[in-house]
Amino acid sequence: MMRIDIISCVPSLLESFFAHSILKRAQQGGHAEVVLHDIRDYSVNKHRTIDDYAFGGGAGMVLQIEPIARCIRALQAQRNYDEVIYLTPDGELMEQKMVNQLSLKGNLIMLCGHYKGVDQRVRDLFITKEISIGDYVLSGGELAAAVLADAIIRLVPGVLNDETSALTDSFQDNLLAPPVYSRPSDFEGNIVPEILMSGHEAKIEEWRYEQSVKRTRERRPDLLK
Ligand code: ADE
Repeated sequence: MMRIDIISCVPSLLESFFAHSILKRAQQGGHAEVVLHDIRDYSVNKHRTIDDYAFGGGAGMVLQIEPIARCIRALQAQRNYDEVIYLTPDGELMEQKMVNQLSLKGNLIMLCGHYKGVDQRVRDLFITKEISIGDYVLSGGELAAAVLADAIIRLVPGVLNDETSALTDSFQDNLLAPPVYSRPSDFEGNIVPEILMSGHEAKIEEWRYEQSVKRTRERRPDLLK
């Protein structure tokens, strides 16, 4: 059972994402649980403020340490967490190997930043892992947390079945996935490769492997090194 607690100042952004499709099934099947937390609920004053100006000046508000500390501590008082992850463009670049490792954990916290980020002391005191989902800047960490949680949860044993198996994913063996086809076999003269309809399993596997290598060499030669 994988439990992911996501801490955000706009948790409603994430609600519908986790309420659908494979992620919904994973939760209904008891394989995974995603719990959203609103930083504002942990504010230390009656105005429910969570951000303030940066010391030293400069543009942009900073998420303050107190509400976040209270939220993380409240969670840690209830169970042990394997990682407390902060989603940030200056974190370690997310890739499949990292996702595979995280999918073997039990409890994870993900903290989403906003504005100019969080007070550095949050990172120093509470965060065990900082992850970026790519070299571009999003307006908040919510989409990044959704991307990371999705990639993790689909790997939790029992979430996928044979039909949706992760074993044939792109990147699992450092190769991109081969092309796939479905009916009709002829769309306006565009024909499905004959081998796929031959019923010859070994030949089909060989073809798929060759296509994977070809695709990887053409599109992502860096993966073959
Ligand atoms: N927050 C803003 N941009 C991000 C990124 N690229 N990865 C993770 N978190 C982010």
